[in-house]
Amino acid sequence: MNCILIINAKGIVQYGRSGVVKGQSMNSLPVLENGWILIEGDHIHSYGHMDEVYHGLVTDVIDATGCYVLPSWCDSHTHIVYAGSREREFVDRIHGLTYEEIAKRGGGILNSAKKLQETSEDELFDQAWVRLEEVMRTGTGAIEIKSGYGLSYDAELKMLNVIKRLKKASPLTIKATFLGAHAMPIEFKENRNAYIDLLVNRLLPEIADKNLADYNDVFCDRGFFTIDETDRILEAGNKLGIQPKIHANELDYSGGIQVGVKHNALSVDHLEFTGEEEIKCLQNSDTMPTLLPSTAFFLKLHYPPARKMIDAGLPVALSSDYNPGSSPSGKMSFILSLACLNLGMTPEEAINAATLNSAYAMGVMNELGSLLPGKKANLFITKPIPSLAFIPYSFTADPIDKIIINGKLQ
Ligand code: NIG
Ligand code: FE
Repeated sequence: MNCILIINAKGIVQYGRSGVVKGQSMNSLPVLENGWILIEGDHIHSYGHMDEVYHGLVTDVIDATGCYVLPSWCDSHTHIVYAGSREREFVDRIHGLTYEEIAKRGGGILNSAKKLQETSEDELFDQAWVRLEEVMRTGTGAIEIKSGYGLSYDAELKMLNVIKRLKKASPLTIKATFLGAHAMPIEFKENRNAYIDLLVNRLLPEIADKNLADYNDVFCDRGFFTIDETDRILEAGNKLGIQPKIHANELDYSGGIQVGVKHNALSVDHLEFTGEEEIKCLQNSDTMPTLLPSTAFFLKLHYPPARKMIDAGLPVALSSDYNPGSSPSGKMSFILSLACLNLGMTPEEAINAATLNSAYAMGVMNELGSLLPGKKANLFITKPIPSLAFIPYSFTADPIDKIIINGKLQ
């Protein structure tokens, strides 16, 4: 068995912690200074101060003088299975069109759906694999991936099959989410109920039967899916044991947060439009508010009120939303920079949000998100840096020196 001992670390970050981090406690981050951490096989075995002795077999020693050890980022909201790219819409937006106007003209998600329907499963796998490798190199150790660019019976199953293959082939921890209700296909525009019927009566049962999705998502927002449609889809998923985890309140006070909480969603994501009522609703729930600041950055939306949420005692998670239309990047350290700069979060809050809280938001909190004995050894060692705040501060730099996934150096 391989046993890696990391010594002389400037700090072992998020050590010994479990559970969701809420409200004021989000600003505290446990850091064991001048420490060691021992990895046995694919798990974290133990840690301690350099003055204390360590017990156990060691096959490799890594000297981390001047460097921090952090749990890998958990990216609980992405769409990395897609075909091609959409930089033409990026240029259209520079010329003044809005994201919603592009979507109304049949661009946006429908544009990606057309491309995806024409792309083979193998080709989709290859393209997604490149993105998966890329995010692993920037410190992501767990990732949730959604369908939702298929928008037909066959193409949605094709996407979910690609995610299934990625789960098998990649060392990263991956969760799959069904997002058949991402946009209304043109052919169903005049008969929306028929599309909801397809999702509820045919796709969800097939997906449950073949165990193709861990979660059930709907883009519940102005111009996409209504509260009633969302209600039906989430209820159908819950009956089949597929918990919701939804897109809500990105473009308006859509009621998405309330309908998500009503159906016990694991997370509600985006939340640019969140007021007192929505905050109250979240306070009485186990639903993780998940913020995706690169989407607000890229689409030039206003940012979600993270400060208000945290000050009201809520937890928040951070994720990348990596997708071709609204966030063509999965670099989590940049997400942290945006959270600090534009959401008013401290570096400590941002690190908590992108580790333990985002682990909760994708259902992997017992295995990932902190450096706790028994958890999976998914972690990274930074380059020598002066402090943890240097990670979000140096927003184009690559702060990472070594990556360990399932106890193996990558
Ligand atoms: O999370 N908001 C909905 N879906 C994606 C965007 C998808 C796209 O534009 O392709 C998002 O931002
Ligand atoms: Fe998204």
